[in-house]
Amino acid sequence: MPETYHIITFGCQMNKNDSEHLAGLLEFNGCQPADNPEAANILVLNTCAVRDKAERRVYGQLENFNYLRRTKNLDQKIFLAGCMPACNKAEIKKRAPFLDGFLEIEEARRYPPRRADSPEAWVTIMQGCDNYCAYCIVPYARGHERSRGAEEILAEIQQIDFSRREVLFLLGQNVNSYAGEFQGQKISFPQLLELVLQKCTAVPKLAFLTSHPKDMSDELISVIARQAKIDREIHLPVQHGNDRVLQLMNRGYTIKHYLTLLAKIRARIPSAKISTDIIVGFPDETDAEFQDTYELVRTAGFSRVNTAGFSARAGTAAAKMPPLEQKVIDERLNRLNSCINSLKKVNK
Ligand code: SAM
Ligand code: SF4
Ligand code: F3S
Repeated sequence: MPETYHIITFGCQMNKNDSEHLAGLLEFNGCQPADNPEAANILVLNTCAVRDKAERRVYGQLENFNYLRRTKNLDQKIFLAGCMPACNKAEIKKRAPFLDGFLEIEEARRYPPRRADSPEAWVTIMQGCDNYCAYCIVPYARGHERSRGAEEILAEIQQIDFSRREVLFLLGQNVNSYAGEFQGQKISFPQLLELVLQKCTAVPKLAFLTSHPKDMSDELISVIARQAKIDREIHLPVQHGNDRVLQLMNRGYTIKHYLTLLAKIRARIPSAKISTDIIVGFPDETDAEFQDTYELVRTAGFSRVNTAGFSARAGTAAAKMPPLEQKVIDERLNRLNSCINSLKKVNK
């Protein structure tokens, strides 16, 4: 009997794409997909370390699966992959000594993906991040920024059957700083978008995640405006509404820059919808500074806002700053979420 596997994915789209490569690695080695976790001989949790809550969910699931395996006497091995082991394997081994081991994403990415049955197809165009936002674990978990060559990206896209897919997502932590090569020449992100549309005509719609406001160029806005196949929903995380806090976060832009960017996008692409991410309760944030975030969200006309309370991540710059009390973070987060909910009602 061949071995069977099941993968549970936490975190962002890049992790979803990595899970497809993990599935590719396992299938290359003769494993077959199992319908549910209990039916699998090999269970993989592909993890996220972005906030403490994400890590607690992984530990909770691990305990449950280990309990099931013991009480039902399952012939099963449990592995962890992704951003948690990339940050701290020793801590995981201490907290979950029953774990059978780790799977490496770098190794898995050498295998062609076994793509999920989803209307979205994902292709990772770059790995890692060099921005070191003060709160963020990603540069530690994913290493330095590395752009893939355009030929390799095009070849991967050309392998995808788009007959049952609605959209292709190009993925990177900061796609605006993509710096690959095509036929020996440097190529920027806007140029890559045009190249993909020119060479891969089966792509029904093209989207990308994530743009960094400090690196979003006029050229990119022009390419989106010109190319009807590029999604008009643009994700542009602002993170905070106050310049002092943005500086503490090491984001590299001001609110004036961000608002100018929004105005430019809306002038060139009238149907654009702009979504964002916000962190509430960054260390040393005053109530007046939080109020700046609140006002920004109330007035900027975002189509969607993902909010999160600040979570200290070991090893990051912000983890060394004195944190706010958790009850202050929770109260501000509730206030912001109520504002977002009332805006949704008004816009219905
Ligand atoms: N590269 C993207 C960017 O620059 O926005 C996404 C980074 S992260 C994977 C996704 C979101 O998680 C961020 O936009 C941020 O709002 C949130 N996040 C990251 N670190 C956090 C932390 N320590 N506490 C709370 N939220 C955090
Ligand atoms: Fe994290 Fe900042 Fe890099 Fe985004 S740009 S992944 S928030 S360090
Ligand atoms: Fe993604 Fe979470 Fe890692 S958001 S990059 S899976 S820390």
